[in-house]
Amino acid sequence: MTCASHLALTCFFLSCTIAVAQQNNRPVVKITTPSSGRTYLLNTLIPYTISVSDKEDGESKYEEINNLEVFLSVRYIQDASQETMARKTASEPDAPGFVLLQKSNCITCHAFNAPLIGPAFTEITRRYPPSKPNEIALAKSVLEGSSGIWGSAVMPSHPDLSPETARQIVAWILQNAGDPKSNYYSGTAGALRLTIPEGVDAGGFFILRASYTDHGIDNRNPLQGDDVVLLHAK
Ligand code: HEC
Repeated sequence: MTCASHLALTCFFLSCTIAVAQQNNRPVVKITTPSSGRTYLLNTLIPYTISVSDKEDGESKYEEINNLEVFLSVRYIQDASQETMARKTASEPDAPGFVLLQKSNCITCHAFNAPLIGPAFTEITRRYPPSKPNEIALAKSVLEGSSGIWGSAVMPSHPDLSPETARQIVAWILQNAGDPKSNYYSGTAGALRLTIPEGVDAGGFFILRASYTDHGIDNRNPLQGDDVVLLHAK
């Protein structure tokens, strides 16, 4: 081995060691408004803001965080005595299918409760209740694209998604988007509504959970940050 190639090899190993030693840091997510414990009127628009700070990805205040990757879920808990339990559940990491949804482009065309370019995810779950055949059919739609079922707009194909990723995203949507006690929003700022489904006892509370999953080091070993806030409504 020549001296030069030996040197190149040593550098190669050295840079590998440096890459391995580099550690990803967990993002810090904070629901800045509304603050925990406050009481709001039901069915009114309540402004919300979320801040994200990640050592590798950047700061949401400098618009370095992709707004569409920050999610807020609002869940109604009927049993007022379940506060501790609800906080604990809300602090658990997002399901893999939900994280994949956050990292794909779906939210540029779909919202959960209102039509955008594509139909609302709640409408999709109404038309296709959760089942294995619906999961398979819709994953195929997402992969290959779709038109003419909901209107004149076209969903392009998603050649960048693996069939397994499409299946996991669709399965998560079918299992969760139709839950009348939950709402989902994307973005670091917006307006949310506290709603209680018809026929459900109004004596409970709302749990808000904001989350952001970072990009790891070169998209390896991503970490999720979250924040949980509890609200009352009347
Ligand atoms: C560029 C806009 C756009 C993007 C991006 C997009 N969709 Fe769609 N989506 C649409 C439109 C428009 C329709 C309605 C198509 C139709 O009428 O057949 C649709 C329909 C659907 C349907 C229902 C299909 C059916 O057979 O009824 C599902 C499920 C769906 N989208 C999921 C997703 C998921 C998951 C993603 C992200 C991986 C995604 N979409 C990304 C625009 C989009």
